[in-house]
Amino acid sequence: MITFLDYYQNQVELSFDDHPFSDRPLHVWVIAVYEGKWLLTHHKQRGYEFPGGKVEPGETAEEAARREVMEETGGEIDSLSYVGQYRVAGKGDTIIKNIYFAQIGSLSSHLAVDETDGAFLFEELPERLDTNRQYSFMMKDRVLPETLRVLSERRLV
Ligand code: GTP
Repeated sequence: MITFLDYYQNQVELSFDDHPFSDRPLHVWVIAVYEGKWLLTHHKQRGYEFPGGKVEPGETAEEAARREVMEETGGEIDSLSYVGQYRVAGKGDTIIKNIYFAQIGSLSSHLAVDETDGAFLFEELPERLDTNRQYSFMMKDRVLPETLRVLSERRLV
């Protein structure tokens, strides 16, 4: 278990064990790769981020991961694997989020949605995300680097 403060100074607990905080988390985040490039979306307020969002009633977390990736990027997931989970003690409530790794099989021309500007492919992520105003707060705490480290250890990237 790794604990730290996020970009907004909220306490985060991160673990790469099997669902340590909840079997039914209400949020998902998907580290997505398409043809060897990182697949991100651009949120109109938050900036560039990996796709994700809330699990809807009646949906599993994996279904939510597939739906959010499609809605936010037009990407169809070929393979989806659970990587870890984190809990953020926010100012209001506490959220629990599953982290997935996804290989995207196909990218359709994106159907416009309210909040994001669709798919963006990156060969590399910038070195200093914490000070980069084009990137979302979600990309600025230790969740992303720790997840990338685990993906590399598991030979997924
Ligand atoms: P909407 O209903 O989509 O507008 O969401 P919201 O802004 O109320 O956010 P949500 O319920 O998704 O999350 C509540 C709070 O939890 C956010 O304002 C963030 O402070 C925090 N949060 C959500 N996701 C993450 C995340 O991936 N990382 C971190 N560090 N905090 C998060």
